[in-house]
Amino acid sequence: MPKKQIQKHREQRIRQPIVTLAGHVDHGKTSLLDKIRGTAIAKKEAGLITQAISCTVMPFDIIEKIASDLLKKFKIELVIPGFLFIDTPGHAAFTNLRKRGGSLADLVILVVDIREGMMEQTIECLGIFKEIKVPFLVALNKIDAIAGWQGKSKEFQKNLEEQPEHVKRDFDMKLYNFISQLSGHGFDSDLFFRVRDFTKQISIVPCSAKTGEGIPELLMMLAGLAQRFLKNKLAVEEEVRGTILETKFDKNLKYIEVVIYDGHLQEGDEIVIGNIEEPIVTKARALFEALPLAKGFEHTKEVTAASFARIQIPAKEEIFPGMPLFGGKKNLETVKKEIKEEISEIIKLDREGIVIKANSLGSLEALIFLLRKAGIRVMKASIGNITRVDVMNAESSLEREPLNAVVLGFNVKVTEEVEEQVKVFTGNVIYKILEEYEKWREQREKELLRGKLAITMPCKIKVLPYVFRKNKPAIFGIRVEAGKLKVDTPMMNSAGKKIDTVKAIQSEGQNIVEAGRGKEVAISLPSITIGRQVREGDVLYSAISEDEFKTLQENKKYLSSDELSALHEILEIRRRKSPLWGV
Ligand code: GTP
Ligand code: MG
Repeated sequence: MPKKQIQKHREQRIRQPIVTLAGHVDHGKTSLLDKIRGTAIAKKEAGLITQAISCTVMPFDIIEKIASDLLKKFKIELVIPGFLFIDTPGHAAFTNLRKRGGSLADLVILVVDIREGMMEQTIECLGIFKEIKVPFLVALNKIDAIAGWQGKSKEFQKNLEEQPEHVKRDFDMKLYNFISQLSGHGFDSDLFFRVRDFTKQISIVPCSAKTGEGIPELLMMLAGLAQRFLKNKLAVEEEVRGTILETKFDKNLKYIEVVIYDGHLQEGDEIVIGNIEEPIVTKARALFEALPLAKGFEHTKEVTAASFARIQIPAKEEIFPGMPLFGGKKNLETVKKEIKEEISEIIKLDREGIVIKANSLGSLEALIFLLRKAGIRVMKASIGNITRVDVMNAESSLEREPLNAVVLGFNVKVTEEVEEQVKVFTGNVIYKILEEYEKWREQREKELLRGKLAITMPCKIKVLPYVFRKNKPAIFGIRVEAGKLKVDTPMMNSAGKKIDTVKAIQSEGQNIVEAGRGKEVAISLPSITIGRQVREGDVLYSAISEDEFKTLQENKKYLSSDELSALHEILEIRRRKSPLWGV
């Protein structure tokens, strides 16, 4: 930025609003930005899908040039020094973009393909806007693709009036359809020139990234909204605050690309960067500032917010996207403490729970937030692809809680082979990952329960002095001391010798299938004789096999405390005979 301009902004102490383009994949975010800056980035992108977040400085003179007539017409005088546009990949939403206490974006353009209307990621965006309360407007893009549309004049309102009747009807239908979809998500909206109260209604600006229609209106609306509603938020403070977008290497030198949203950063300044554990203290060894319209970077001695900077740093540690960057005159220890607090506020963990991974701090935050809302606990959270370490961490839950032996990954890949027992869910839409996980959870829970029901359960009974029949079958009274006695349960005595299987249970003359703790019932055992294998006062146990014991051990949480104590006694009896039983 030229010296004179820096000076001017310093005096005004007002920075550019940060405007993020968000929306469903392929709805035209990159194309819109391209059209505004007069380049063709979208065409250069691999597979035409934006792969990473990009940042474009748009000085006010360009806005003035594009939207001068409208600015005059609507009596808007530009006081903001321009915009800082952030383009996001459709699949990552814009959850990556965070700053302390909310979103990095001051304003969002929600880009919507008029032909498709509300789509998955549009909905996901709306959810986030609501949560972080960021103001937004809608760019209802691709109007040129409406059959019969004629792009006669650049001013949208006139242009719409001049369309043939059937085209107007088609446009109206699509527009009102979208308005009603938005309303279904709790947002009242209308065409931008019909909006009366900008604090209550969302403005919709129809546009085309192909022909450029509607783009002056979009810029005019952005400028108007920013100046009207954000002015107090755009003051530049002394302390430097930024958010890391990316780390790059060039000729073995490490660079970070950072959106500086507050303060003045100078070359040579000490900077502190957030990390999952200890914050990283390093130095802005060389400083570069983004040239307007994404035309590369230029070496500079100082950058002033809002700005997009590339900083060469000597730090060896890995630096994650979304992490906060602090700089300025404050005491280093205080800054480190502040950063640590900020990170630990975001990544609050539970003692037990699943393992999660995401590609940036912001997306990790979004994932944790939504998991919490769904009542799912998180034991470990970190940034980066899913590796063996994550799987091993999840595996450690297998014994305690098999439903937690799970890794959820948002916008990350699995880089190593995964053990079968640990379930991994990855995806680019948080809601989908959650949905899949919850479906699996439900299924698995049922399986565990079924497995549990099919095996012999721990049970302890005491033989009472009521013998109804001595043998063939022996029928006598018992009391259930612990657990539940079920028909068909194999029984052993307190020496661990298997004696018989329960053929029937009777209570007050009725056959029943099971009897709970404390119940006194009559049971029949076909092949024993009372007085020989079984005597009055004997204690009998269910004859749990070693495999069954292991399954029960893994599913302890399903057992009642008396079942657990019976299981324990059974183990002791078995171990008297074979000391390694159940190991
Ligand atoms: P992601 O970065 O993948 O999320 O997509 P995006 O939202 O950035 O969309 P992009 O700008 O890459 O555009 C997707 C496709 O739509 C491209 O083929 C564009 O040429 C086309 N497109 C974008 N805007 C318009 C428009 O206004 N009219 C027409 N006809 N096509 C458009
Ligand atoms: Mg794109």
